[in-house]
Amino acid sequence: MSTLGKPANIFWHECPVGKLERQKLLQQKGCVVWITGLSGSGKSTLACSVGRELHNRGKLSYVLDGDNLRHGLNKDLGFKAEDRAENIRRVGEVAKLFADAGLICVASLISPYRRDRDACRALLPDGSFVEVFMNMPLKVCEERDPKGLYKLAREGKIKGFTGIDDPYEPPLNCEIEIQQNDGICPAPSIMAGQVVTYLEDKGFLHEQ
Ligand code: ADX
Repeated sequence: MSTLGKPANIFWHECPVGKLERQKLLQQKGCVVWITGLSGSGKSTLACSVGRELHNRGKLSYVLDGDNLRHGLNKDLGFKAEDRAENIRRVGEVAKLFADAGLICVASLISPYRRDRDACRALLPDGSFVEVFMNMPLKVCEERDPKGLYKLAREGKIKGFTGIDDPYEPPLNCEIEIQQNDGICPAPSIMAGQVVTYLEDKGFLHEQ
């Protein structure tokens, strides 16, 4: 019987040092902060700011950024729905490993489909997948257009661009939502503070 392409005859190997011991060493609890939103909504800015704030507090985090991962791990993927699903699936699995390592893993990807984000949530223990919705209006993202991609999408030079001619499904039950106040986007440190306060309140910044 051929086993090519199938995960047959594969066994799980348990290591003697476990998650609880690593968390004790790090004095924190592993989790995933998953930032979703349109291109140009400020996901990477928030991710880096959360990383900085946690570092300042002596907490170990690692940022998984969609654009950056598409230079390596996911460089074989495009932007069709199946490719985005595979992109999210891989990053979800990597994030799960980082959380198991005891780190606060900050993943920042458009992740436009609810089903794909929910599948990542389902990989993590209850409560340790923190979904953050960067709820910025398309108009704001398009005005920022930091990479000039919205312009190209409007000119029809990029097909299937999220928010223009490809869908974005906003979260229905996210843990944190970041919005403008009176038309003004909060400063990165304020947004990061909102996330770090949540992590503090939920006990992720302590081992016990
Ligand atoms: S996701 O949809 O699969 O989650 P991901 O976050 O990895 O996307 O990558 C999004 C980045 O790729 C955007 O910030 C943008 O710079 C770039 N990009 C290139 N083509 C597209 C496209 N068709 N739709 C959205 N983003 C695109």
